[in-house]
Amino acid sequence: MSQDEANLEARLEGQAAFEPPESFVEQANVSDPGIYDEFEENWPDCWERAADLLSWDEPYDTVLEDDDAPFYEWFTGGELNASYNCLDRHVEDGAKNRAAIKWEGELGETRTYTYGELLNEVEAFAATLRDLGVEEDDVVTLYMPMIPELPIAMLACARIGAPHSVVFAGFSADALATRMNSADSEYLVTCDGYYRRGDALDHIEKANEGLADVDHDVSDVVVVDRLGDALEHSLADNQCDYDELVEANAGASVEPVSRDAEDMLFLMYTSGTTGKPKGVKHTTGGYLAYTAWTSHSVLDIEPEDTYWCSADIGWITGHSYIVYGPLALGTTTVMYEGTPDYPEKDRLWEIVEKNSVDIFYTAPTAIRAFMKWGSQYPEEYDLSSLRLLGTVGEPINPRAWKWYYKHIGDEACPIVDTWWQTETGGMMITTLPGINTMKPGSAGPPLPGIDAQVVDANGDEIGAGEAGYVTVQNPWPGMLRTLYNNDERFISEYWAEYSDEETDEWVYFPEDGAKLDEDGYITILGRVDDVINVSGHRLGTMEIESAVVGVEGVAEAAVVGGDHDVKGEAVYVYAIPEDDYDGDDELQERAVEAVLDSIGPIAKPEDVIFTPELPKTRSGKIMRRLLEDIASGNELGNTSTLRNPDVVDDIAEQVGEN
Ligand code: WT7
Repeated sequence: MSQDEANLEARLEGQAAFEPPESFVEQANVSDPGIYDEFEENWPDCWERAADLLSWDEPYDTVLEDDDAPFYEWFTGGELNASYNCLDRHVEDGAKNRAAIKWEGELGETRTYTYGELLNEVEAFAATLRDLGVEEDDVVTLYMPMIPELPIAMLACARIGAPHSVVFAGFSADALATRMNSADSEYLVTCDGYYRRGDALDHIEKANEGLADVDHDVSDVVVVDRLGDALEHSLADNQCDYDELVEANAGASVEPVSRDAEDMLFLMYTSGTTGKPKGVKHTTGGYLAYTAWTSHSVLDIEPEDTYWCSADIGWITGHSYIVYGPLALGTTTVMYEGTPDYPEKDRLWEIVEKNSVDIFYTAPTAIRAFMKWGSQYPEEYDLSSLRLLGTVGEPINPRAWKWYYKHIGDEACPIVDTWWQTETGGMMITTLPGINTMKPGSAGPPLPGIDAQVVDANGDEIGAGEAGYVTVQNPWPGMLRTLYNNDERFISEYWAEYSDEETDEWVYFPEDGAKLDEDGYITILGRVDDVINVSGHRLGTMEIESAVVGVEGVAEAAVVGGDHDVKGEAVYVYAIPEDDYDGDDELQERAVEAVLDSIGPIAKPEDVIFTPELPKTRSGKIMRRLLEDIASGNELGNTSTLRNPDVVDDIAEQVGEN
């Protein structure tokens, strides 16, 4: 490192606050600080500003309907179609030849769809879905990796009013079956396989395995041929080839179906405290308005931009900020199939340079990996097209924030650290890049119109410098409407903690801890439930536990998250073997297999530790905090309240050995 660089590092290291660059502010979509008061004073009518970003077939009568809280309704009486809003209207406005999706495969092949081409393809596939018998309100499951046919299928579903349920391609066959069963979904779109680090991965085999466990009839399965000759597979009787079907419908015209604002746009399953994933329901009007609004105000997206979010569409980030938000605004959205380190660790920067990406949105876990690989990779490329950077999914430590700021943004791009959830539909707590001071490590204030408050265990607002729990005290258009077929669980999961039913005051509880500072900035501390965050992905420890306990030879198991320098958290399994078993390598392997089978490689345990006992309180509760500390290598606190304090040293010793 040169002296200049060393000085720069030292200066950044000591700096706790950063102002948005003047050049950014001058061109920002939102730069008037008055927007906070304006939204507060006009709430809930302020949300018309979001709805105004869309084209409505029928204007709405009411902005917010709260008669049946917390089953809120937004923009009631309004009708619209999401696919029309993401495609047709841009084509009608003269953007037919603008790139909508720029896709890059892992092997380096590229495909660009203009808005005109994307519309044609979506109509052809919408016609196909209809041919197969898909009707309005039928749930179509999409089990696909990052190939263009995934957003095409989503928009085709939206066009005919069939909600989609996208299942992340990395999830296991079991996970697919659970989700199809829960949603009663009779249609599946999948593909033969895809590339990972240069290898052709078989995907259809996993899909078929999952289908075997679906407990109702699945009428039709559409299979995209991604791999051509690289993978041999034959289609079953009810399986059809995507290309053949779409070709037969080439040139078809499918009128977008007018949907009520409150009609379901999609379902997205996410993990919770209990073993069963929750089907989060998002609607057409509120969700689309909210993702368009936050794409405009936070991501500063303009139609002329090339925008890239490196998430997977199989998660909410990809739904909201690769597909719906950016396309609703008519911009060019980039999609990359593969991993950031294939063939080299410079892959992402090559894509930024080649496409002159203006806005880049990624996860802290990726940034920590870039940091570890070193700044020589981004330095090889011209990243000067970048104007704004974003992060999402987990807390970002100030060191990673500053590395991103300097080595990717060249100290010229604001960074938005956006806190939100599958359930919130879009961003909730973040700075507005054209307005607010940035504080590395702190997400920022709640967005205009979002009444997020940090409270204590009694629900009272805490003061500056204190820590408590995040709550949202008013509804917002992008919020989930319920859990699919489970209104009761919707209430008990999100509204039971702090609401007062008698006075009809409803408070949303996202189950995150947070700190508040003197400027009202919120620093997210992480989940306070039994959910862990591995590489920005949410995993339920109970789901993993039930997989491990299902293994023959395992008597009891506890799963916790331990600190990990790249993943943020990693999965640690502590298990008691049954009497006739040893916690040997074989049992360990079977435990890992069980987790892979029930969830997928993202949940792969970092370590499986067998122990004759688990640390328990006198009342018999497993002391998870202690297991977390052991996994993280933290100093262990007082263990005297345990029924079996001796076991702690035994376990810690084993972890040290592995
Ligand atoms: C959980 C939601 C938001 C889309 C991706 C994850 C954590 C999310 C941040 C952030 C600190 C964050 C929270 C939240 N989280 N963004 N900027 N800073 N933590 O969606 O799978 O629904 O997970 O991710 O703990 O509750 P998700």
